[in-house]
Amino acid sequence: MKRREFIIKSTLAGAALSTYQLFPFGGIKKVNGVGNLLRFPQELQPGESLIFKSANVEVWPGTTTHVLALNNSYPAPTIRVNKGEEFSVLFENQHSEESTIHWHGLLVPEIMDGQPKDAVLPNTSYRYSFPIIQRAGTFFYHSHAHHFTAEQVYKGHAGFFIIEDEEEKNLGLPSGKYDIPLLIQDRHSVFQPQFVYSPSNMDRMQGYLGDLPLINGTPDAYFEVQKTLYRFRIVNGSNARVYKLAFSDNSQFLIISTDGGLKDEAIKVDNVFLSPGERIEILYDFSVYSLGQTITLESQFFSSFGGQGLQMNLLRFDIIGSQFSGGSVPQNMPSIKYYDYNSVQRTRTFTLSQGMMMGSGIHRINGLTYEMNRVDENVPFDSLEEWKFVNTTINFHPMHIHGVMFHVYARNGNTNLDPKDKGWKDTVLVNPNETVQVLIKFTDYSGRYLLHCHNLEHEDDGMMLNIEIDQPTYVEEKNTLPETFVLYQNYPNPFNPTTSISYSIPQDGHVTLRIYDVLGNEVAVLENGYRSAGGYSRTFDASNLTSGIYFYSFRSGQFTEKKKMLFMK
Ligand code: C2O
Ligand code: CU
Ligand code: CU
Repeated sequence: MKRREFIIKSTLAGAALSTYQLFPFGGIKKVNGVGNLLRFPQELQPGESLIFKSANVEVWPGTTTHVLALNNSYPAPTIRVNKGEEFSVLFENQHSEESTIHWHGLLVPEIMDGQPKDAVLPNTSYRYSFPIIQRAGTFFYHSHAHHFTAEQVYKGHAGFFIIEDEEEKNLGLPSGKYDIPLLIQDRHSVFQPQFVYSPSNMDRMQGYLGDLPLINGTPDAYFEVQKTLYRFRIVNGSNARVYKLAFSDNSQFLIISTDGGLKDEAIKVDNVFLSPGERIEILYDFSVYSLGQTITLESQFFSSFGGQGLQMNLLRFDIIGSQFSGGSVPQNMPSIKYYDYNSVQRTRTFTLSQGMMMGSGIHRINGLTYEMNRVDENVPFDSLEEWKFVNTTINFHPMHIHGVMFHVYARNGNTNLDPKDKGWKDTVLVNPNETVQVLIKFTDYSGRYLLHCHNLEHEDDGMMLNIEIDQPTYVEEKNTLPETFVLYQNYPNPFNPTTSISYSIPQDGHVTLRIYDVLGNEVAVLENGYRSAGGYSRTFDASNLTSGIYFYSFRSGQFTEKKKMLFMK
C-alpha cells in the first residue's frame, strides 16, 4: 500500500502554515488539489502598452485585492523576447505617483534603464525601446520610482522578462509547458486579502518581511506535474526576504542558470539561497515519484537576525501523469570566460553600514545616502575592476548593479568559490559581516547607472549610489608613435546618426575597418588601404540604416578586433 501526503489547510495565520498528514493510499488516483492552482500572468503582446494603475484582482478566491498593476495583471504581464530583437513598449502611468520601469539585469542605454531620475510622471507616458543584446536568461522588470520603489513593487509592479536565443534552444532543455517561471513574493497575512504597505520602524531597518508566500501571485499554490524533467525559472521578487530553496524531501536538483543566463556547469545541490533581485533556473525530475504523490518546494528555516529564515511552503507539486517533457539535462553547457584577477585595473571598496538610530538614511554605502544628482563613482568603460562589498552589519544586503554582468571572485577572501557563485551575476548576496569581491567590467554602454541594495526598504532608504561609466576618450598620439595596436570604442555610443571610431597602429601596414549589421552583412567600409604608423579617427554615418546594434571590425597585419555599437534613431 502506498502512502500519499495530504495537505490540510491550517486556519492559523493564513494559508502559509499548511500542515501535512499521511493517509493510506491505494491505487493510482489523481491528487485532489487543495489550495490554488498555480497562476501565470498573461503574456505581453507585441505593440501592447503597459498601463500602470490601480486595479482589483482576485488573489485569494472569492475576494479582491487592491493592487497597483500593469494592464490589470498581478504579477505584471510576462515579456518574452529573442536576442537580437528590438524591444519597444509604451509605458503609460495612470497612477497618482511617479513611476518607472526598470529592466532588471538587462543591458540597456541609460535613458531606457528606468532610474529614479527618469521618472514618468502621473498621466504621462514614456516609450522604452532598446535592442536585446545579451544572451538568453530569466530577468524581471519593476518600478524604480524615487522613494516609492518598495511600495509599488509590493503592490504589484513587477513581472517576468525572458530572453531566448538559439544557443539555449539547441540545448534541448524542457520547454513549453515544462518550462515554468516562478515569481516568489511574500505578503503579510495580518492584512490578507490586502497588500497593505505600512512598514514599521523595525521593518524599515530589516525590510518589509511577510509571512505569506505568493507564487506568481498565487497563495497556497500547487502545480500539477508529469513524471518528467522540468525547468523552473525562479525570480525572487520579494522586497526583502531571502529564501533557502529546497524540496520537502531534501532531494537534489540541478542549478543551470544564474542572473545572466546559463552557467558553464550544471550543479547538483539540495538547497540554495536566493535573495531579492536574484534569479536561478533549476532542472528537476519528477519521474522518481509515484502518481498521486506530492512534493513541496519550500524555503527552509535558517537562523538569522530579524525575521529572516522563516520556514515556508512555497509551491506544492502534485504528480498527476506520466507524460514525457522531451527535455534533457544538457551534456555540455556553454563556456564562460571568467575575468582574470591579474588584469584588474583598479579596486573599489563599498562599505555597507546601518545606523543604530531609527529614521531615514540609516542604510549607507561608504557613509553616503542616495543623492539623485551626485555622481559617486566614475568608472572607465571597458576596464576590469574589482569591487569589494564590506558588510559591517548583521543584515543581508543583496547588492545589485545596473548596466553590467559581473563575476563573484571571493567571499571573505576565499577565492575557492562554492559552484553556486559561478556564472554571470547582476545581484550578489552579501551575508552579515561578510566581504564579497566581484570582478566587473562595463562593456556595453556608458552613462549613469546604479549600485544599490535590493532589499527595497534599504534601497528606498538611500542605500544606493550613482555610478558614471565614462566614455572612452581617444587621445590622438601626437609626436610619439603608438606602442600597440588599439581599436577604441566608438564615441558617442549610442549614437545618432554619426559616431567616430578611432584606432592606432604601431607600424605601417594595410588597414581595414568594416561595419556589419547583426546578421553579419557588411554595411560600410571605412578603411581599406595602406596607413603609416599613428592614430586615426573615422566617422561612421548611419543615417541610411535602421536602429540597432552594429559591429565594427578592424584588421591590420595580424591584429584583428571587433566591437559593438548601438545606433538609436
Ligand atoms: Cu531590480 Cu535597481 O533594481
Ligand atoms: Cu536592476
Ligand atoms: Cu541592504
